[in-house]
Amino acid sequence: MGVSEASSINERFEELKAFDESKAGVKGLVDAGITKVPGIFICSSEELDRDRQNSNEPTRTHFRIPVVDLKEVRFQRAEAVSGVLKAAEEVGFFQVINHGVATEVLVGMLEAARGFHELPVEVKEEYYSREVNRKVKYGSNFDLYESSSANWRDTLFCVMGPEPLDPQELPFVCRDITLEYSRQVHKLGTLLFELISEALGLKPDYLLNMECAKGHCLLSNYYPACPQPELTMGTTKHSDPDFLTILLQDHVGGLQVFHQNQWIDVPPLSGAFVVNIGDLLQLISNDKLKSVEHRVLANHIGPRVSVACFFTPHLYPSMKTYGPIKELLSEENPPLYRETSVQDFIAYYESKGLDGNSALTHFKLRR
Ligand code: OGA
Ligand code: NI
Repeated sequence: MGVSEASSINERFEELKAFDESKAGVKGLVDAGITKVPGIFICSSEELDRDRQNSNEPTRTHFRIPVVDLKEVRFQRAEAVSGVLKAAEEVGFFQVINHGVATEVLVGMLEAARGFHELPVEVKEEYYSREVNRKVKYGSNFDLYESSSANWRDTLFCVMGPEPLDPQELPFVCRDITLEYSRQVHKLGTLLFELISEALGLKPDYLLNMECAKGHCLLSNYYPACPQPELTMGTTKHSDPDFLTILLQDHVGGLQVFHQNQWIDVPPLSGAFVVNIGDLLQLISNDKLKSVEHRVLANHIGPRVSVACFFTPHLYPSMKTYGPIKELLSEENPPLYRETSVQDFIAYYESKGLDGNSALTHFKLRR
């Protein structure tokens, strides 16, 4: 390493540290009136090439993210199951409508998430933390010191289950609605795991018995308006390290899914949830269901708010190991992955950071 390279690495580290210690997140930079994206957020030209492909062109395909209507799920189960199966196999993403969560709860949750991020720094900073075991924490870029460029996003993270969270731990602005939202989204998650079990040809309670819905956390993301959105990303492309994610996004847009070599917009659909298959569900389904890459573009328009519910066992923490479901295996469909503990999986995912590569590759059996 040359002297100048070492000093620029050092400079970058100092910038990251100053940003971290401000405890004000990206929102703090925007409030300070910056008109240029600071260096730590700028993607390398290689990342830009890789991540930006097509992003400034109108989507050339007529492909649409599937929508699954759960209105008649009690009476027309087979239709919902086949809708979920097709989407989970082919795209890894779908939107659900008529899911039973009241509009007031959706609107209230987005407002409260925004309300938290728009609190004065003096109030927010008491939640600012990088401690692994803290159940409620706010921060910016969980992989700030590992990734090659920081994302234009702040996050409030809350572990909601399986142990009930002491409500006092939640910031007052979002306390009641977060508890209500968490309950209702967990209930929807339970239904989705039943439908996915059936879609895999298993008993409806199969995935629930595997404790797929046992642990869940909420991530309230805040993407401030960005002065130079072409230089950075809201969220670097990644797949989710959980079983399933249920996402609520506001009306701004910017979420994209990589499908058949193109980035496809996930258009905001009022009242809907975006659902996607996570890495652990791809692993236990032996690649039948797809955990696909997605990203969020930075935008001149903002803030954009989203609330992601991750169904993941790594936070309670589970001692279970997960591998391909035996009932799905046969001579023609041998296991593609080794059994792995949830802790090992997450440790690997986090050590890698959001680098654009799938963590699953690391757990594949070599044949
Ligand atoms: C995530 C994620 C998308 C969004 O939190 O993993 O992909 O729209 N979020 O914020
Ligand atoms: Ni994600």
